[in-house]
Amino acid sequence: MSDSADADLGVDTEPFRHKPELHGDAVILHLFTENDIAAMGPILADPDVLRLTGSVHTSAEALNAPSELDESTLAWYRGLAARPDRLDLAIIDRASGRCVGEVVLNELDAANGSCNLRILIGPQGRDRGLGTETVQLITDHAFGTTGLWRIGLQVYSFNPRARRVYERAGFRAEGTLRGALRFDDTHLDAIPMSLLRTDWNEKLGGT
Ligand SMILES: CC(C)(COP(=O)(O)OP(=O)(O)OC[C@H]1O[C@@H](n2cnc3c(N)ncnc32)[C@H](O)[C@@H]1OP(=O)(O)O)[C@@H](O)C(=O)NCCC(=O)NCCS
Repeated sequence: MSDSADADLGVDTEPFRHKPELHGDAVILHLFTENDIAAMGPILADPDVLRLTGSVHTSAEALNAPSELDESTLAWYRGLAARPDRLDLAIIDRASGRCVGEVVLNELDAANGSCNLRILIGPQGRDRGLGTETVQLITDHAFGTTGLWRIGLQVYSFNPRARRVYERAGFRAEGTLRGALRFDDTHLDAIPMSLLRTDWNEKLGGT
């Protein structure tokens, strides 16, 4: 592949050791505070978040999730600042000062310079451009300050809004995982997408 000749970045073994605070016009992304963690309870229980992230398999499950985080989930959030293998940031809506969701770079494969991206925003933050700005900020951080080469993700076919946000950030679809998600006894497709350092450079107008 000619792409590999375009950069000599070496292996960045811990691209997520540094935990940034990223500022945009509409959002601030930063490590979770106790207030942010508390706000995540209802967001993670939101039926649309549960359905669109493939976290549940039936409408009934989506409608009946507890809106308080249990002790192990609280401990998980509190431990994220110390994790060099992943970057989890709260999405703060500048308009309200509140945490409205999270964006995550995880599944690090340092040898290949790749990771996964996921994002979720609760009802109070959606459809106001916050997701678009968040994905731009985190991908700019990843390619601008680490040696990562590839960010991958999967989006379900019933989520054109998320696909649009990823495409605006430069992600390209890579095919179709047919029938990858079972929901209410139907099988739905997932679309793998990725953003390579070369795509990001191209978007910046660089080489
Ligand atoms: C997906 C998500 C991160 C997007 O963030 P957001 O802040 O709501 O989205 P934005 O307002 O930044 O942008 C949405 C874009 O999708 C477009 N859009 C909205 N509904 C759409 C639809 N049904 N079909 C096509 N495009 C659509 C909007 O027009 C907008 O594009 P534009 O700015 O070019 O006009 C957020 O809605 C979310 O977290 N949803 C629930 C969980 C989820 O889906 N996570 C992603 C799993 S892969």
